[in-house]
Amino acid sequence: MCGIMGYIGQRNVVSVLVEGLRRLEYRGYDSAGIAYLSKGEIEVKRSVGKLSSLESILPTIPPVSPAGIGHTRWATHGKPSEENAHPHRAGSLVMVHNGIIENYLSLKKTLQDEGREFTSDTDSEVIIHLIDSFYQKGGSLEKAVQRATEKMHGSYAICVLSEKDPNRLIAVRSGCPLVIGVGKDEQFVASDIPAFLSHTRQVIFLEDNEIALLSSEGVEVHDLKGARLAKEVQQISWDPVMAEKGGYRHFLQKEIHEQPRAIVDTIRGRVAQEAGNVILGASEWVGDPAKDYKRAVLVGCGTSWHAALVGKFLFEQIAGLSVEVDIASEFRYRDPLLSEGDLVIGISQSGETADTLAAMREARSKKTPTLSICNVVGSSISRETDAVFYTHAGPEISVASTKAFTTQLTALTLLAIFLGRKRGRLSKKAGEALIHQLILLPNKIEEILAHEKRIKTIAKHFFRYRDFLYLGRGILYPVALEGALKLKEISYIHAEGYPAGEMKHGPIALIDENMPVVVLALKDKVYEKMISNVMEVKARGGIIIAFAEEGDNDLPGLADEIFFIPKIASVLSPILMTIPLQLLAYYIAFTRGSDVDQPRNLAKSVTVE
Ligand code: M6R
Repeated sequence: MCGIMGYIGQRNVVSVLVEGLRRLEYRGYDSAGIAYLSKGEIEVKRSVGKLSSLESILPTIPPVSPAGIGHTRWATHGKPSEENAHPHRAGSLVMVHNGIIENYLSLKKTLQDEGREFTSDTDSEVIIHLIDSFYQKGGSLEKAVQRATEKMHGSYAICVLSEKDPNRLIAVRSGCPLVIGVGKDEQFVASDIPAFLSHTRQVIFLEDNEIALLSSEGVEVHDLKGARLAKEVQQISWDPVMAEKGGYRHFLQKEIHEQPRAIVDTIRGRVAQEAGNVILGASEWVGDPAKDYKRAVLVGCGTSWHAALVGKFLFEQIAGLSVEVDIASEFRYRDPLLSEGDLVIGISQSGETADTLAAMREARSKKTPTLSICNVVGSSISRETDAVFYTHAGPEISVASTKAFTTQLTALTLLAIFLGRKRGRLSKKAGEALIHQLILLPNKIEEILAHEKRIKTIAKHFFRYRDFLYLGRGILYPVALEGALKLKEISYIHAEGYPAGEMKHGPIALIDENMPVVVLALKDKVYEKMISNVMEVKARGGIIIAFAEEGDNDLPGLADEIFFIPKIASVLSPILMTIPLQLLAYYIAFTRGSDVDQPRNLAKSVTVE
């Protein structure tokens, strides 16, 4: 959480930092601040609330400044306030921090005993005092940063600027993302690539325990002993326009509409339709392609956990491979039993979620092969797993995950086909038919999106309700969870997802005329049972909003509202069924006046436990 940004070069530092922070605001938005050099002195501007409130206090005449740093905060230690906002200052230094310093209380005590005064409640302020304390004892700023890192326990990505050494920025990371943008006579450092994507696509991914020294002439990366490291400069293919709203009212709406393209990009180059098979690159699968696994363990958080739950159905049905699913934050604390023949798959859009990263480290510590399904290229999880299968959703800016989810499901389907063919559970003909259906998916999503107005109308009827229940069965049960999560996180309406068969074991007590029940139904083997569940809801005065397959003639007579999705192979139905649920959540939240892209209390990537 928190977004950090640094710039050194000839441009207007203030506007480069503000532009970058706007792209990082998804990481936290309870306060923001920047620091830059002005006439040889550091100016710090901080403000509570979103970036717009910081902008209102910034100088209208651009300062002549060679460098600056900025921060957008998601509070962990200390409430959102100007004092707790970053950058923090000590002596001639200022710093921005993302992460948590676990031993900050003992460090603070030692620093206070030295006579240092603190002005915030944050753990972060300790870092800059620690660095300053070493800096004042002599030696370079780099050395002072190195020595401070030796004392700090926890996770951090920091960027430091000094009044005494104004032509240099120093950045270091351990456990939190940091990427350097390499420009011509200018350099950027940020928590995420979109922050500088409009200026450069040349990037260096900093690893844990690496220090970057940025000057307008170039970048040097050192290890913590000061030895220079040879780092690869990579070219990012993301188009800067992808990180803009492009005429949509919100990023969320844009990202919902980008799903056909994102799915095409995720499938592209990975299928051999006539062979009924999926082709994976060498880095996309773990170990010998002929080697079989006995079990897959899928882990993730939030929406990515829901993708893992769908993945269990896909792997078991298509590939006959037994699957266990774990919430990443639970995984390592229960000392999971992993054995020979297991493969652990971590699913994460950002590739930076602390719990998922820790789960993958746990698996590796037990010598279990790991694969990640990530969207962000070069992210920590993608780099720390044995192999990575990238979804090609493009930058997802809105905090609520949409295109990341449906491309994760696409990736899991491709992996299931690959495994199914490899394990002899999926015939060439069945593989070909499934790939054919997969290729049809983007058009079918377009068909759903063309009926967006219908969902908007449904949303207008229901935006005032306080509780929703989402019911699904089988492979649509995780979609019910996802639909409910989408609604609660952006509209603040209480919503629960349930397997429909569980309703009578408790949730049915909630049903009355104030409880809309969102029903997800396919004409499959549990259809009749779902109809019985609908009748049970109706008998108690509940309201039914049904999402059903085209050609369903029973539900229209029972539901208060109905929306049809095109017919598709049942294993692909979660992808199609998700789209109207995203739209429903979006329009309910919008009609209620919620901050759709930046819902309260949330952050896009959760880099703390
Ligand atoms: O980046 P990740 O996929 O690891 O993120 C996991 C969750 O934090 C994320 O899916 C979260 O639940 C979203 N806000 C859901 O919309």
